[in-house]
Amino acid sequence: MPSSQLKPVFSFKADQASRIQDMFNAVAPRYDFLNRLLSVGFDKYWRTIAVDELEPLANRLFLDLATGTADIALELALRDQSHVIGIDFSGKMLELGKNKVNTNNMQSSVKLFQGAAENLPIKSNSFDGAISAFGARNFSDINHAITEVHRVLKPKGKIVILEFSFPKNSFLQWLYCLYFEKVLPVIGRCVSGHKNAYSYLPDSVGKFPNGKAFACILKESGFESVEFKELTFGITTIYTGFKNA
Ligand SMILES: C[S@@+](CC[C@H](N)C(=O)[O-])C[C@H]1O[C@@H](n2cnc3c(N)ncnc32)[C@H](O)[C@@H]1O
Repeated sequence: MPSSQLKPVFSFKADQASRIQDMFNAVAPRYDFLNRLLSVGFDKYWRTIAVDELEPLANRLFLDLATGTADIALELALRDQSHVIGIDFSGKMLELGKNKVNTNNMQSSVKLFQGAAENLPIKSNSFDGAISAFGARNFSDINHAITEVHRVLKPKGKIVILEFSFPKNSFLQWLYCLYFEKVLPVIGRCVSGHKNAYSYLPDSVGKFPNGKAFACILKESGFESVEFKELTFGITTIYTGFKNA
């Protein structure tokens, strides 16, 4: 099971990983507040739908990858009496997550550890399900991270990935880009005090291989019965798949 030590991400992407890690450490104190504000509360709804995907597996052991401040980990544990291990490489995000776990008195169900998605400090075939909300587009080696999730899932284990995407409708796309590129970075900068974090967000969404392209990555990593569905006009997408038996 996990050690609390951060294992190194692959050296060729180490710079990128450490920039992202520093950024999340810097925005951590304002992260939850900004999430609610900038998504006008939709982030909670999207996470709830993503957790619904794991509901049939209640009472099991789950991985919440890129757990951040542990919203998904807590919802899973509270709703389904499941046990959850949350992994994230930002110590500051985890600190806030641990405070929430303690406040909810969920220390026996939710354990949080520092670690990198590309090199999970976990033994193979451990989890019944794995979920990651808004984490995947940040991974410096997405293919490797997904292969790692496949490795740590038990046979028949389910993966659920929630990530931002682009609406198909051209008017909504225009509105979305206007908001993402002009409004969100300004509010994000003022509230978080971080120069780039909320300009990085639209950049990282733009670079993320969404829809069929990400479904392909899941299949190439060994997942079967891969599906995806768009939420809220395609602003976010939920991807699911199963490790073969
Ligand atoms: C946008 S936040 C999402 C947090 C949480 N899942 C949520 O729903 O609010 C992205 C998180 O991914 C983490 N992260 C990014 N790249 C990572 C990596 N390679 N390994 C582990 N954690 C990573 C960041 O530290 C951050 O906490």
